[in-house]
Amino acid sequence: MSQRTHASLIGTRILLGISGGIAAYKSAHLARLLKKAGAEVRVVMTEGAQAFITPLTLQALTGEQVRTSLLDPEAEAGMGHIELARWAELILIAPATADLMARLAQGQADDLLTTLCLANDALWCMAPAMNQAMWRHPATLENARRLEKYGWHLLGPDAGDQACGDVGPGRMLEPEAIVNELLDRLTDTGSKPSGLAQHATDAAELTITITAGPTREPLDPVRYLSNHSSGKMGYALAQAAVERGARVRLISGPVALETPPGVERVDVESALEMLEAAQKAAVDSDIFIGCAAVADYRAEQIAEHKIKKSSDEDALTLRLVKNPDIIATIAQSAVDSRPFVVGFAAETRDLERYALDKLTRKQLDMIVANDVGRPGLGFGADENAALLLWRGTENEAAPGRLELSPQPKTMLAAKIIDTAIKRLSATDEQSSCPSSQVT
Ligand code: C5P
Repeated sequence: MSQRTHASLIGTRILLGISGGIAAYKSAHLARLLKKAGAEVRVVMTEGAQAFITPLTLQALTGEQVRTSLLDPEAEAGMGHIELARWAELILIAPATADLMARLAQGQADDLLTTLCLANDALWCMAPAMNQAMWRHPATLENARRLEKYGWHLLGPDAGDQACGDVGPGRMLEPEAIVNELLDRLTDTGSKPSGLAQHATDAAELTITITAGPTREPLDPVRYLSNHSSGKMGYALAQAAVERGARVRLISGPVALETPPGVERVDVESALEMLEAAQKAAVDSDIFIGCAAVADYRAEQIAEHKIKKSSDEDALTLRLVKNPDIIATIAQSAVDSRPFVVGFAAETRDLERYALDKLTRKQLDMIVANDVGRPGLGFGADENAALLLWRGTENEAAPGRLELSPQPKTMLAAKIIDTAIKRLSATDEQSSCPSSQVT
């Protein structure tokens, strides 16, 4: 169960921006849901949006004049565009087309909606909607990353059937899901959105340690046991963390990846080496993320010389012993000096149940659960989907959850880092607040 029951849209001044995509027809329902939830809603439509839905529809639903043009003397005489930008506590763009994202990522102000976005410093959310190939294009992904850096919250996109007949990521989230996501964002930033400073993630003070890649468990001087982990997810996490200004240590098993600039990389091979490096790094880390695919077992004895093929035995027996659980060791170390610990759970069924069990059993603070049975996602792939689960603090009681739809690992990584940072500060606030003061 999520903690969204704590937030409300009642009285929140929302500027709903609609750009020109087929999903614009859903924006009418979205406007209704926002009104029903108690928000004050004003709508701004781009020229393209008006090809899909009329301003009159939105005017009837919101009871407010819909703005479409920057250079409209009559509308400006009522509420000028800067006044409108100041009025909005939350800007929600749904749908956000590839073109609009590109213009906002460039800081353009070539129509009313983009101008308002530049002039406003409240909470910014957008629900991208476009064809799957357009969404996957490196230019769009780069724009999405840049927008997130500027403080935009990207809600979705979802994956599935598209209006053009394609199947893949790029569908706009359903209006109900958008409203739920807004409530989550409002919960994260307090009961009301209030200012750019609150939603720009500041990790400059933090040290984040991340384990990544596989481990290699030697059998003799030339052979080892290992797995197919590519390290891409862990490296993407390191990149996202360093982009947010954190000091980042990456404890890496053998992978064929470049170290992201600014990241301190420690190379290890076996699980025992990884444990040693992790324990050393954890001492002064604020967040510890165990993303490595650590081998569960290692050879009991490493042969001093190359194991020879026997001419009279058809079978060879290797005795394996269990490796230590690195993340559990860190999570269960002295409570006062222990970092906020984030683990991963790759499951093929009962994702949430097994992940919650792992969260509790290993005493983690947050877990990133992946359904590794889904084709094209996870191990070795560039994309992944995830379910984030975290323990509730004392005054939240229930664990929190955030579902992240299939998207490039780089974008997913940014959301995981942001959520971990937010949860860390929620936990810190909790521990610095005597329980008698908790309301
Ligand atoms: O138990 P399981 O391997 O599914 O747990 C996965 C999580 O535990 C990952 O975060 C992984 O990095 C971590 N792990 C570890 N040491 C191990 C095994 C797993 O840190 N020996």
